[in-house]
Amino acid sequence: MTTIGIIGAGHIGSQLARKAVELGYDVVISNSRGPETLADLAAELGPKARAATPAEAAAAGDFAIVTVPLKAIPDVPVEPLAGKIVLDTNNYYWERDGHFPALDAGEATTSGLLQEHLPQSKVAKAFNHILFSQITTDGTPAGTPDRRALATASDYPDAAELVARLYDEFGFDTVNIGPLAESWRVERDRPAYVARQNAAELTENLARAPRTI
Ligand SMILES: NC(=O)c1ccc[n+]([C@@H]2O[C@H](COP(=O)([O-])OP(=O)(O)OC[C@H]3O[C@@H](n4cnc5c(N)ncnc54)[C@H](OP(=O)(O)O)[C@@H]3O)[C@@H](O)[C@H]2O)c1
Repeated sequence: MTTIGIIGAGHIGSQLARKAVELGYDVVISNSRGPETLADLAAELGPKARAATPAEAAAAGDFAIVTVPLKAIPDVPVEPLAGKIVLDTNNYYWERDGHFPALDAGEATTSGLLQEHLPQSKVAKAFNHILFSQITTDGTPAGTPDRRALATASDYPDAAELVARLYDEFGFDTVNIGPLAESWRVERDRPAYVARQNAAELTENLARAPRTI
């Protein structure tokens, strides 16, 4: 059995948990306010899931998903994620997160910031450009014509491979952008962001993305 530790239980964290449990994963999910505030979600998810603190979720996971607002990255537990693959759903909304000059200038990436915070983990961008509700509605079996594709990026090939396997189980093809330094291509306001696209269309949209908006 594989356990996924999820840090963040909002729109996307809870939806990823629902699909992961459906697929047979064990899930430990957390938020900022404490596990008692996740009682309803834990009850809905059933016996394969439990609510915990972020540190407990990080420690329990064979791999982890960080799905908190960008400004909360400094709070993500470091030590229990050391040596683990960490999927990052983050996007930069300066209206919500405040301005990050390095992001505004096109000199950094959101997932790169998480990788800097977690130097002993293997960060991969994942599930950042799909509307949360579509995670459980848009997946189709491998080989389906025009199957929806999602992008990933990582400095670690085994992390990108894990994302591709997970995407396939969730019902999506994968386009690997390459290193985290290129992950801006699938960020907010670029052509690939939140659009429903197959692998060929996603590849094309990634190629024509502007570095700064
Ligand atoms: N919504 C989407 O469709 C979507 C799609 C793709 C990617 N994203 C991106 O994914 C990230 C999460 O989005 P969301 O829509 O799920 O946000 P959300 O609904 O606001 O949920 C955020 C979650 O993060 C938790 N959190 C906040 N600060 C935390 C901290 N310091 N430690 C632990 N947990 C903390 C919150 O817990 P509390 O409520 O207890 O504070 C909440 O469970 C964002 O970067 C977003 O841009 C969103």
